[in-house]
Amino acid sequence: MEEESSEMEIDSRIFALSALASLLTVISLVLVFMVSDPNYSITGFADSKSEFSLPTVELQRIIPSTPDHIKAISGGSKVLLHTNRSRNSTGAVIRKWKRLSREEELARARASIRMAVLGRNVSAETARFEKESDLSAVQVYRNPRAFSRSYDEMEKRFKVYVYMEGDIPIVHRGPCKDIYAIEGRFISEMEHGFRRFRTSDPRRAHVFFMPFSATWMVRYLYTPLSYNHSPLRQFVSDYVRVISTKYPFWNRTQGADHFMLACHDWGPSASRGSSLLYNNSIRVLCNANTSEGFKPQKDVSLPEIALYGGNISPKLLHPPPPNASRPRLSFFAGGLHGPIRPLLLQQWKGRDPDMQVYEYLPKDSDYYTYMLNSKYCLCPSGYEVASPRIVEAIYAECVPVILSEHYVLPFSDVLQWEAFSIQVETSEIPRLKEILMAVPEEKYRRLQEGLRAVRKHFMLNQHAQRFDVLHMILHSIWLRRINRRLP
Ligand SMILES: *[C@@H]1O[C@H](CO)[C@@H](O)[C@H](O)[C@H]1NC(C)=O
Ligand SMILES: *[C@@H]1O[C@H](CO)[C@@H](O)[C@H](O)[C@H]1NC(C)=O
Ligand SMILES: *[C@@H]1O[C@H](CO)[C@@H](O)[C@H](O)[C@H]1NC(C)=O
Ligand SMILES: *[C@@H]1O[C@H](CO)[C@@H](O)[C@H](O)[C@H]1NC(C)=O
Ligand SMILES: *[C@@H]1O[C@H](CO)[C@@H](O)[C@H](O)[C@H]1NC(C)=O
Ligand SMILES: *[C@@H]1O[C@H](CO)[C@@H](O)[C@H](O)[C@H]1NC(C)=O
Ligand SMILES: *[C@@H]1O[C@H](CO)[C@@H](O)[C@H](O)[C@H]1NC(C)=O
Repeated sequence: MEEESSEMEIDSRIFALSALASLLTVISLVLVFMVSDPNYSITGFADSKSEFSLPTVELQRIIPSTPDHIKAISGGSKVLLHTNRSRNSTGAVIRKWKRLSREEELARARASIRMAVLGRNVSAETARFEKESDLSAVQVYRNPRAFSRSYDEMEKRFKVYVYMEGDIPIVHRGPCKDIYAIEGRFISEMEHGFRRFRTSDPRRAHVFFMPFSATWMVRYLYTPLSYNHSPLRQFVSDYVRVISTKYPFWNRTQGADHFMLACHDWGPSASRGSSLLYNNSIRVLCNANTSEGFKPQKDVSLPEIALYGGNISPKLLHPPPPNASRPRLSFFAGGLHGPIRPLLLQQWKGRDPDMQVYEYLPKDSDYYTYMLNSKYCLCPSGYEVASPRIVEAIYAECVPVILSEHYVLPFSDVLQWEAFSIQVETSEIPRLKEILMAVPEEKYRRLQEGLRAVRKHFMLNQHAQRFDVLHMILHSIWLRRINRRLP
């Protein structure tokens, strides 16, 4: 207990130091773990040549561990670290135990992940974990071992503090239906579920969550047809001002260990309300467009999941067995939104029975039945890069064909999208049928296997379950956090 108080002393000294240093940007990137260059070669465990030209974040080559790192991970699962051993005057050994600081804990997690990647000291525990989570079954992970160890470390250590500031409906609530449902579902899980990952003691937190909803900002603050986003920005600016005046945590890192989450198209715009938040904080966004300031090293791509009526369509929960025939080659139905869809519709709408491309579905036909009966589901970006079709196609085990530009795909830090989807350049849309017809049967079978393997990572459960979409989002946040060394 007395150690607890000395830890507080250290913390307050850090606050003082960081206040001085804040303008010098105290934040340093550790860069042991991720890079944004898709051509970066990861020796030994992943293809260095990606078929995908989309910007992705991947696990970086691991810097060789020093003996200190190796020492540091022994007893890695303990919260308490045996730091000192000395003898009193009668020669008896005195042990001092000290709680690890947040940064020490994260340093251990990094070291442990490095070790796992190097294949050293894969403990029985980790081996069991890998088996249980069936991570090595298919090539859908960039690095199964790094992911499993990282996930494991997250479960052992990761703590999120959720700010209480702000009132419903805009804070502490979000939509739980329709295309922005992931906002409400994540906020709700963070506030009422996720016990293991939440702490009410901000001194123990690795990250701080600002639980406001961009969708509800739009509903309650925006004047329809005004095209004026400034009330949203004002809200974000006020929120940051309140927490940074009332608590010491924001100023300590200039917001770098804070995160916000938004699926609404205007989430990125709202986040401009605080330039510190925009520049430093982890922004978890559906609209993960690198041309609009999304930074894969620090921001997280959030999958868009449409819940009409509040649930995943039961049809999508039970896709046909793998050997079932899928009579249609490809399918798309949707409005002429954004820059890419007009190319697709002009080229293929009503042109070819193999290419079921519609602006409006024929009367009495069912959207999901089309997906379940098609081999490929076309997923062009609309007004924004993200589309709920991608996740629906994954549920339907219909191989997604990604037609987008500047889109950072969700969980591309750990998942190898090439193993369960196809990306086609928009300039290749005229050759789309040719490209899909040319995929060998064997490759198609592997893509489908890949879909069955990643499906659970996109599942939105009523109560979050290990490895499901809410856990994967949290894992992406954890990765961004362990990649930064903060004061
Ligand atoms: C692996 O780590 C454990 C502690 O986590 C340690 O006890 C053991 O000796 C290590 N094994 C090897 C082969 O380094
Ligand atoms: C261990 O404790 C002793 C006595 O309290 C102190 O002199 C020594 O510097 C400590 N060593 C370390 C590594 O902290
Ligand atoms: C030294 O430590 C032993 C074991 O904790 C204790 O019994 C003894 O009283 C201590 N001696 C002094 C002088 O503190
Ligand atoms: C954080 O910094 C801001 C701007 O410099 C200042 O107004 C605020 O009082 C600081 N917060 C705390 C808790 O010291
Ligand atoms: C945020 O980043 C931009 C571009 O790098 C820079 O011009 C601006 O000063 C930064 N704002 C803050 C508050 O750090
Ligand atoms: C698919 O496989 C199942 C069992 O593996 C078998 O019972 C069924 O007849 C097969 N269906 C087709 C269409 O081949
Ligand atoms: C991504 O951002 C760029 C730059 O603002 C924009 O031109 C493009 O339309 C965006 N893409 C989508 C699909 O919204």
